[in-house]
Amino acid sequence: MKIAQQIESAAEAFLSSGLPTPRLDAEVLLASFLGKDRTWLFVHSDRDMSDPETEGFRTWVARRQQGEPVAYLVGHKEFWSLEFAVDSRVLIPRPDTEILVEEVLNVPALNRAPCPGILELGTGSGAIAVSLASERADARITATDISPGALAVAAANAARNLGNSRIQFLQGDLFSPVQGDFDVIVSNPPYIAVEDFSRLSREIRDFEPRQALLAGREGMDFYSDIIPQAPRYLKPGGWLLLEIGDGQQQLVEDLLSRSGLYREVAFRKDYAGRWRVAKARKRGSKRG
Ligand SMILES: C[S@@+](CC[C@H](N)C(=O)[O-])C[C@H]1O[C@@H](n2cnc3c(N)ncnc32)[C@H](O)[C@@H]1O
Repeated sequence: MKIAQQIESAAEAFLSSGLPTPRLDAEVLLASFLGKDRTWLFVHSDRDMSDPETEGFRTWVARRQQGEPVAYLVGHKEFWSLEFAVDSRVLIPRPDTEILVEEVLNVPALNRAPCPGILELGTGSGAIAVSLASERADARITATDISPGALAVAAANAARNLGNSRIQFLQGDLFSPVQGDFDVIVSNPPYIAVEDFSRLSREIRDFEPRQALLAGREGMDFYSDIIPQAPRYLKPGGWLLLEIGDGQQQLVEDLLSRSGLYREVAFRKDYAGRWRVAKARKRGSKRG
């Protein structure tokens, strides 16, 4: 079969499996499978694929039809114009999370401080920490995750994108491996409520790590843990920035306000108009 026919046939298979972007998926997967880019496919659309190539590509098509995300099949995902290796140990970084990176970079305290200290909780692929390091060469960045597998992926992504790793990676539950104080604490924690899990698309539900998604009965477990503890690890006037899920803005605002630990509580929407980022500044001048 020629390349053009392979694309056609894969796109039809994906359409019949209910995948939302069948043609794009077919092109991206075939290009990656052949180690080329999509332009190469169009230029060589008349080229015959060998039997082993056809067999190998069919396996990918079948996996995609089962819902396996394109990013896991091709093994990488772009975030903040950088390339991140991804596999089933880490959440695939989402474009909306770039807003969280933007907000961290806009924090006034960060821009005033030379060599600012940034702590990321739950780094996954390292997308946030590595993107921040790529923008602030002077930053002292610490990134944690409870999953050793995720940290291995994150460290590889730091090496790949930053050359020498300027990020300290620590394994453990939230703040447990962390010492010192920081200008900014940032986290995109798990925030899916248990009862919403079955309603997620199968791409997410069946393939992405549950540990990266689930956050108790109401999806609030991590906010309930992070918000009261963060000030102990923030410098006076330091900032906490959190990605939040759809419908969680009021609940997170209540947690931040009722804690009495923060001022300047604010939220930012994503480009789809959903509240996406919460930010708040540590109150008072003493630690804790
Ligand atoms: C929603 S993912 C975010 C990954 C990445 N920061 C991103 O934005 O793409 C949440 C991450 O938190 C980690 N995690 C879950 N429970 C944790 C805990 N108790 N302590 C530290 N990290 C945790 C997961 O392993 C996962 O990598």
